[in-house]
Amino acid sequence: MDLTAPRDPSQPWLTQGEEKRRAVQNMFARIAPGYDRMNRLMTANSDRTWRRKAVQVLQVKPGQKALDLCCGTGDFLPLLVQAGAIAWGMDFCLPMLTLARSKSPASLGLADACCIPLRSGSVDVVTVGWGIRNVPDIDLAHREIARVLKPGGRFVSLDMAIPKNPAIRGISQVVSSTLLPLLGGDREAYRYLPESARRFKSREDLAQSMEQAGFKNVRYRDYAFGNVCMHWGVRA
Ligand SMILES: C[S@@+](CC[C@H](N)C(=O)[O-])C[C@H]1O[C@@H](n2cnc3c(N)ncnc32)[C@H](O)[C@@H]1O
Repeated sequence: MDLTAPRDPSQPWLTQGEEKRRAVQNMFARIAPGYDRMNRLMTANSDRTWRRKAVQVLQVKPGQKALDLCCGTGDFLPLLVQAGAIAWGMDFCLPMLTLARSKSPASLGLADACCIPLRSGSVDVVTVGWGIRNVPDIDLAHREIARVLKPGGRFVSLDMAIPKNPAIRGISQVVSSTLLPLLGGDREAYRYLPESARRFKSREDLAQSMEQAGFKNVRYRDYAFGNVCMHWGVRA
């Protein structure tokens, strides 16, 4: 356990290590029933478009093995199956995972992104949607993703980002810190979103973490005026 970590369980964005793991798991268990509705509302349905773009960069070939890590309610899974992949979804939060069951024929498993229960070099592509920001150790999760991928395998991650334009950044901060907690109902959970985004690695640091984990040709692209960023790379 990280003894230097701040210890206020009502502020999960300040937690680290094992404490963060538990806080994030409990938070997603609480918001699971309303998660899809809030996702559509917050992104004005654009999350579907970003997911499709993410699956495109993977260049999935029929019969390839795909892992959607931190799969939550499973919105990536039907797209991976449509692309011809044999898909698995993994998440460490059972109430989220339970909601993924009806969305696709993909296999589902309870697992932590920092300790993936798959053999090294056993997967062709990995997707993560708005998950990397939440894991207790991002560098370790990237290393785990690199480990389970075959050489030449592809990884794509979508997550929140801080807009570079100061005016857009200001508007986004006001919207996400006032409107979201109101709309979401669970104020603590929906305060977590902007707070965790603010403390998240920069685009450049995230790309560097991927490179250090064993990815080459790492690229990133902004969506939603820089509020969302997609990172992708190829397993070296
Ligand atoms: C914001 S939701 C995203 C869900 C889904 N990927 C999507 O695109 O809608 C984040 C998900 O990551 C999961 N998660 C967070 N940390 C995790 C970890 N260390 N291991 C596995 N899953 C984790 C949460 O349980 C939650 O379901």
